Order: sequence, then C-alpha cells, then structure tokens
Amino acid sequence: MLLDNLSRCPASGASIPPRMRMAARLHPSRFGNIPDFTARPPCILAAECADLPVNNLPHHRAEGISPLSTAQSPVQSLAGRRVLLIVAGGIAAFKTPDLVRRLRERGASVRVVLTDGGAQFVTPLTLQAVSEDTVYRDLWSLTDESAMGHIQLSRSADVVLVAPATANILARMAHGLADDLATTVLLATDKPVLVAPAMNVRMYEHPATQANLALLAARGVGIIGPDDGAMACGEYGPGRMVEPLSIAEYLAGWFAAQAAPKPLAGRHALVTSGPTHEPIDPVRYIANRSSGKQGHAIAAALAALGARVTLVSGPVRLPDPPGVNVVAVETAAQMLAACRAALPADIFVAAAAVADWRVDGAAGQKLKKREGGGPPALTLTENPDILANLSAAGPDRPELVVGFAAETNDVVAYARAKRLRKGCDWIVANDVSPATGTFGGDRNSVHVIRADGTEEAWENLAKTEVASRLATAISDHFVNGKK
Ligand code: C5P
Repeated sequence: MLLDNLSRCPASGASIPPRMRMAARLHPSRFGNIPDFTARPPCILAAECADLPVNNLPHHRAEGISPLSTAQSPVQSLAGRRVLLIVAGGIAAFKTPDLVRRLRERGASVRVVLTDGGAQFVTPLTLQAVSEDTVYRDLWSLTDESAMGHIQLSRSADVVLVAPATANILARMAHGLADDLATTVLLATDKPVLVAPAMNVRMYEHPATQANLALLAARGVGIIGPDDGAMACGEYGPGRMVEPLSIAEYLAGWFAAQAAPKPLAGRHALVTSGPTHEPIDPVRYIANRSSGKQGHAIAAALAALGARVTLVSGPVRLPDPPGVNVVAVETAAQMLAACRAALPADIFVAAAAVADWRVDGAAGQKLKKREGGGPPALTLTENPDILANLSAAGPDRPELVVGFAAETNDVVAYARAKRLRKGCDWIVANDVSPATGTFGGDRNSVHVIRADGTEEAWENLAKTEVASRLATAISDHFVNGKK
C-alpha cells in the first residue's frame, strides 16, 4: 500500500494533506511503502507527514516518559477543536505555519485571519497550504465577506488565538478598535480569546503595553507567555513568542481545563512562586535566577481546576495568572508573613526559590565605597523556612503540602531526604544545573516523590504541562483519596 492511499500517518495519526499524497503518487521512491514507512521512528514520520524539518521535533522528547514513570499521561488532544488564528505583524509570524501544524497534528482545525502586517512576514499562500482553508485578510473584500462575513467568522471557532500578538494589536484590542478584519473579529467575537505576545523587550515592558495586558487579562483574555530570550532585533529579555509546540500544549491544556469538571471547587490553594530579594542596603539585594514561571503555572492550573488560589509571589516579570489572587512580596520574611496570613488553606505548594540567607542588619542607607577601605563585610543570617514552617503549622497545617527541591546533583536522593526534613507530603525535585536551562526556561523535568513511597518522573515537559499534571495529581488526592 502506497502513501497516496492513506489519509493519515500510520504511526502518528497525523492527517496527510492531499498535496502530500499527490507528491507520493508522483515520487513514490521518496516516500516508500508502508513497511519502510513504519520502520522509521515515529518522530521522523510525523515530521514528514507534517512537512516539517525533522530537526525540529522537541514534541517527541516532550511526550517521552522516562522508565521511572509510573503513570503515562497521553498528550492532550485538540481533536475536533476549531481555532481561529489571528496572525499579526511581528517577526514571530514566520513561526505560524509551524503553529498551524502543531495545532492540526493534535486534531484541531485552524482557520487563519492574517493582518497586513502579518503578511509582511508570512505569505497567505503558506498559511492556506498548511491550514487547508481560506486565509481571511480583508474586511472590505466582497469575496471574503460573501464566503464568510466577519461576524460569522468571529463565531466560527471554539477559541480565538492571536499569535503573534504585537504591542499594536494588544493596544487596539484593549481599546476596542475595529479598524481591520482582525480587530473587528476580536471585537465581534463571543468566543474566548487567547493571545501570545511577541515584541521587542522595551515595547513589552513599556507601561502602556503592560497596562493593556492587565486590562485584557482582567477582561478574561488568556495570555500565553511571552518567553525570555534573544530577539530578532538583537536585544534580550521577555518578548519572544512562546514556541509553537508550547502554544499547542497550552491550548490543549486550556481546552481540557474548560471542559473539565472543577474538582477543586471549594478548596483554597496557597502557592509561592519566584525568587526573593534580600536587601543589602536600600538599593542592592541578593537574589537568585528563579523566573517564577513554574509557580505561576501551578497557580493557574489549580485555579483551572476550580480552586480558590492565593499566589504569594516574589519579584517576577510575569503577568498575574487569570482568576488568581496575587500577593506581591520581596523578602522571605514577607513571604512567610503573607503565607501565614492567607491560612487556612487546603493545599500549599511551595514553588518559590526562597533565599536561604539574608544580610544580617541590612544597611538603612546606601553603602558607600571607601577609598582603599575594601569592600564591606556582609554577615548572613538564615531566613525562615516557609515550607517547614507551614508543614508544622499544627491545626493550621494545609492538608496537602507540596515542596520543591532544586538541586544540581544527586537530585532524587537529596529530594527524598529534604521531604522528610521539611515535613511535607510530596516533593517535586528538579535539576537546575545550568545545562538543563530550567531556571528561567520554559521546560522542566521533574521527579515527584510522595510520602506513601510512590515516585514518578515527568521528563522534559513545558512548565505549563508540569503544572497541569501536578494540579491533576493534587485533585486526585482530594477527590479519590489517591496519595
Ligand atoms: O532547602 P531548599 O531551599 O532546597 O528547599 C526547597 C523547598 O523549600 C522549596 O519548596 C522552597 O519553596 C522551600 N523553601 C521555603 N523557605 C525557605 C527555603 C526554601 O519555603 N526559606
């Protein structure tokens, strides 16, 4: 049987576009027959079916479960989901054909609206080919309007995804402008809207953009990212569009959360996130490299399962997760006080990278350089251990206390000992040695250790996926009494 007889890849289940089948008919030697085909690793096969470069396949690593795992969690599907993708004019638009593929390989159908700016970076023809649907561009086009009016277009999907969401389109959304097809659709839609911001770091950090994002978040728009990293413009920082694979994973998790019952309704979850800043003097502080991405994602995932969530966060450059009560703190002492004030809670997840030490007697005035006097000697003193403190909170102790253990070597052994020392029920161990890119990155590999002796390894997942697995495990604990 030749590939041109198939409509789906036999290994991955991904649909094979008609033009690919046509190519197989014209060039059978390139595609081979089924025995050859199935002998190939599924990741390469899926890439060929998806017409993607085979060196761009983190998803197969992401889906891999290590031998240590006791529970295999299938990749979340987007089967039957209709996504209206609005592609705005940022350089990241060049990644949207890949995004369309990632969504479609999970079973979604994707219809694209392309702005004039977006069309500077990606052609309508490319998006039409990968989506196998008309690409809508013009509010004033008689043909587009007769095929599908903008109101109908705005309601033709289960979700509207703006990716890349430039500073400009976010501003127009925040202020209700409707001056092209994309913004008209966004104003007319009665469907949930998600945005994946992508722009230069200064534009992202500009108070106008931050205010627009806050306004959109308050109105219920879901915000995916952005990531930190090197930018096309040569600068570095937050503003990179989240990678297509992670957007697809996020969307799948988001749909699952929408459809899911709310097993944590009526529960209060307290989560810590981010680093702490320990002052040396009023202008200097000791900190660490935590981005807060994992803790924030956990807060969002618990909220998605219906929990009332209090997120006590150290200084981070992340938007507040929607529907979560955020308490911003700087120091470990403030974090402990905020956590204690938030009790009672059913669940405590200590994901913050709390500084172990603070400067004993931080200076009230800026320390001055002394000519020839050498640097000041800093004496450190131990910070309170928030996790140990809440684990031993007597009648106030949350029913389920989950700690994190960031280690650079002997991760699992240290984490087992740490769980006992801190008195928590579960500990989530992760390797933060620089080579892993965990601190500040978007992916994580963790090892979950429970008091009942069960352990699971969740390898190379998006931090959002780690968060949703952890939230599901927590809800299983409460609903099924599963430890
Ligand atoms: O001792 P270590 O910092 O490795 O422990 C990590 C765990 O303990 C994390 O869950 C972290 O949030 C928590 N922790 C804490 N207060 C501290 C130090 C760590 O809650 N002062």
